Amino acid sequence: MSGPDNRFTIEALVLAFSPPEVPTERPTAEMMQVADRISRHWTSTEVGAWRPGSEIHKREVCRMFRETFNPYRPSAIDWPELTPQELHGVTSLPIWDIAVQTEGKARLRFAAYANSMADPEMRAAIMLNAWEENRHKEVLSKLVTAYGIPLAAEPAYRSPSDVEWSYLVTGYSECIDSFFAFGLFELARQSGFFPMELVETFEPVVQEECRHILLFANWLAWHRANLPWWRRLRFELRVAAVWLFIAWERVGLARSIDAEGNGNGRDSNFTVTGAQAVSPVEIRFRDLIMLCLRENDRRFAGYDRRLARPTTIPWLARLVLWITRPWTQDGRRPRVQSESRG
Ligand SMILES: [Fe+2]
Ligand SMILES: [Fe+2]
Repeated sequence: MSGPDNRFTIEALVLAFSPPEVPTERPTAEMMQVADRISRHWTSTEVGAWRPGSEIHKREVCRMFRETFNPYRPSAIDWPELTPQELHGVTSLPIWDIAVQTEGKARLRFAAYANSMADPEMRAAIMLNAWEENRHKEVLSKLVTAYGIPLAAEPAYRSPSDVEWSYLVTGYSECIDSFFAFGLFELARQSGFFPMELVETFEPVVQEECRHILLFANWLAWHRANLPWWRRLRFELRVAAVWLFIAWERVGLARSIDAEGNGNGRDSNFTVTGAQAVSPVEIRFRDLIMLCLRENDRRFAGYDRRLARPTTIPWLARLVLWITRPWTQDGRRPRVQSESRG
């Protein structure tokens, strides 16, 4: 079933989902530090290698996702006071409408796919992912209220008619957007474009996207390994079609159609919009790509090496760096700093 009625059913599933424990009291700075550390480090207690797609692989992926859950509450966030200049920088970013709508769609698409799954462990993990997307939407709603950012009316979210297609499009899109968001977020931190308190407030959301694409990459590996060859062939054709769709969407050819046929293709340019948003900071294209790669490696470094990682976008980024090497023999050092942080 698709359409508005089903959307309410899917939304209700997200809201009714019980995440791992969320404390009711206001967290102390120490509690937040502990939660942050737990969310970015996880090693399985299983000894030895595991086969992608095996029961152990699935169990450990789902355990990783549960155990790295960060129990922050959007309503308990203290939004830092900004100077007039900082406030102007934050409120004039042209990304807030798109960010809210992207989270609004993602929670429904993930929940719809989770709801279609037979495996209870994987279903719970992907439903938790949907719940966290809904929490991102809440965080953004609190932020725009705190800083008086006007938002356009949200479109009517539709439930996906093809849940696997929508899940794949959203999952792969998150892999692309997160890769660039990691670098842009670090760039905004280094440049002071975002004040430090706001960077710290948003940090759990950015790391959560890292966990999401880690889950997606491992779901893919698990799902692929358990398909008989004829369904695997169909699935790979579908994955190829998803990449083509995303590429088509992102070069702006799909302005009037998205995964559900909505008449709003603005979300397809989220990464470009984000890059323009931090354009006051002078950085060369190759330096930005290198920063994205470094941040990508840093954010994934704390998770068990046996878990699959998203590989396509980092591979493409390295390919772009290799292809553009001849244009960089000017002896200038990159302007972005290289820092090792937790
Ligand atoms: Fe999100
Ligand atoms: Fe996400």
